[in-house]
Order: sequence, then C-alpha cells, then structure tokens
Amino acid sequence: MKEGVKDTPKEQLMAAIAPEVAKIEQAMHQDLNRASIDADPLLREVLEYGVFNGGKRLRPLLVVLAARICGLTEEKIRYKSIYKLAIAFEYLHGATLFHDDVIDRADLRRGKPSVNKQFGTIAAILGGDFLHSRSMFLVGTLGGTAALKIFCNATNSMVDGEFLQLRNAQNYNLSEDDYFEAVKGKTALLIAATCEVGALAGGATKLQQQALAEYGISLGTAFQIVDDLLDYQGESAKTGKAVGNDFQEGKMTLPLIIALGRASLEDRERILYLLENESERHAGFNEARGLIEKYDGFTISRNKAESIVTEAVAGLEIFSDEESKSSLAVLKALAGYVLARKK
Ligand code: IPE
Ligand code: IPE
Ligand code: MG
Ligand code: MG
Repeated sequence: MKEGVKDTPKEQLMAAIAPEVAKIEQAMHQDLNRASIDADPLLREVLEYGVFNGGKRLRPLLVVLAARICGLTEEKIRYKSIYKLAIAFEYLHGATLFHDDVIDRADLRRGKPSVNKQFGTIAAILGGDFLHSRSMFLVGTLGGTAALKIFCNATNSMVDGEFLQLRNAQNYNLSEDDYFEAVKGKTALLIAATCEVGALAGGATKLQQQALAEYGISLGTAFQIVDDLLDYQGESAKTGKAVGNDFQEGKMTLPLIIALGRASLEDRERILYLLENESERHAGFNEARGLIEKYDGFTISRNKAESIVTEAVAGLEIFSDEESKSSLAVLKALAGYVLARKK
C-alpha cells in the first residue's frame, strides 16, 4: 500500500473480514480432520479437494457477523464455538455445490474440475452427504433446537427451490415471480438462516433476529441475481465456473426472462429457437447474449439487484448503538460487495 493512498471500500472490507475468514478456515480444517479420521481415504481426499479450494466463505462469515452485531463481543462470548457453528453453513453449502454440479452437469468449480468431474458422480453425492450430515450434527449440538429448526427449514426450502427450477426447466414462458420464488428457496433462505442462527447465538431480540433474517433474504436474492449475471457476463478465470452454463442447460434466469418479455416477435422467436434446440445452445450463446443485451436484460437485472440490496441495508438501521457500528459497516459493505463481485 503506497503512503497517502486511501484503501478502496473493497480493500477495507477485505481487511475487516480477513481475520474472520482465517478463523473459519482453521475451524474447518480442525473439524474435518477430526470428523473424518476414520473415513475412507478417498472420502478424505474428496473433502480436502472440494472444501479447501478458495470458496468465499460468505455463509459462515454472515453467522459470525450477525452474532457480533447482536452483541457477541470478544469479552462476553456466550458461544465459544461460534466458528464451529458457523462452519456448519459452509458444509451445507459445500454439500449443495457437490450435488449441484451433478445436477447442472457442471465441470468447473472454484477454478478446478468440479468434484463430480474429478472423482465421479458417486463420490460427489457421497461426499455431499457426509458434509450435510456433519453440518446437521454441528448445528444440533451447538445451536440447539431453535437453530436446527431454522437450518432444516432452509435446507428443505433449498430442495423445494431446486425442484421448482427443475419443473421450470423447459418453461420458456417463466415469469419473474416464478424465478424469484425458486431463488428464494434455493439460495436466499439459506443465507437468511445464516443471519438468523448467528443472531440467536449472539443473544438477539426477536426484532433483531427478524431484521437480520430479512437482510439475509434480500442479500441472498441479490447474490443469486448477480450469480446469474456472471453466468453470462463474467470471466471464467475469475468466477472459477464455466460462463454460459445456464443457457446451455436451458435455465431460465432473470436476464433471459426479461429479454424474452421485451423482445420483438422476431427476436423472441430467435431466442426461443436457440433455447429449444440443445445443439444450438452452445453455438448460439454469444448471439443469445447479444439479444439479451439488446433488450436491456442485463441492465434491468442489475438494477433489480441494486434495489434489493438497498432494501437489505435499510432494514439494518435498527442497529444504531455505538457497539454495533463496526459490524453494521461490514454488513453494509458486504451488501455492496455482493453487487460488485466478479467471483
Ligand atoms: C455459489 O455460491 C452458489 C450460489 C448460491 C450462487 P458462492 O458464490 O458463495 O460460491 P463459493 O462458495 O464462493 O465458491
Ligand atoms: C446455486 O445454484 C444454489 C444451490 C447450489 C442450491 P446455481 O446452480 O445457480 O449455482 P452455481 O452457478 O452452479 O454456483
Ligand atoms: Mg443449480
Ligand atoms: Mg449450478
């Protein structure tokens, strides 16, 4: 850092969260080593490969931040195991990614061959099952019944969201409402659950817990919109995932839904032709992206994500006391990061 040059907001955020992320990584290493000590060597290899490979650790980070903003200070740590509770959410997330790449037939994850590509479908499914089981054990033993209920509800909603997405797969008339319902289930409710369980661990009031849950839903929804934008506009070298996978899978995400709704009859027919013919989806990706651009599908989606993030942040104003100040700043900055992220 050159003298006299101010940190950018992103650099400030990264500096604020780096120690938390380091503790999360350490907690996962310790816990997984111990939990899988008697496991099959291949399972251990799969876990090492699929978990410790550069994930952003957003979900466990939110658990810790939510606990802090509700009053979990260094001095009065009620939940000594907050990091262990937090990593349960990264395990569940990891489990869903192992399974998701089987479901989406995705070969690339976090810049490397996905677990299913590297080790095969069976290893991906079983590795995911192990992580899922460990995550439930941690939440149940460290968070208690209330946390487990939130956790399991979010997991069930994720399954529902994936089923809804499956049902919607060949529905090229999908509405924005249908898209948002699937996103809520598959992504947003888990992110909300991280905030709620963190709040519980921090001794939150009902009002605080509710505010954080709402922040999480909005943050998670914007997060998935941006994920869907990156699938068209991102760089694979940064996202660590293949660009164009959604279109290739015929997945109806927000930019495409918006463009289809606004396109001329002729352009709509053309997009539908590219979508409906599996052989065209690959070759036609750039053309489809151009048509989405022509009808402002990307700009409108981004504006939507921005207004959802604004809502997310507004709900946190109840945390107005002096002690909450630094945690509030980090949660606000995270919301900005979700929009600006390239990975
Ligand atoms: C990817 O989540 C799956 C979605 C819900 C969009 P992340 O973007 O948080 O993935 P990692 O953990 O950082 O790889
Ligand atoms: C993310 O789904 C949500 C879950 C894993 C349940 P996506 O399929 O949209 O996420 P990426 O783009 O593969 O990470
Ligand atoms: Mg998926
Ligand atoms: Mg996927």
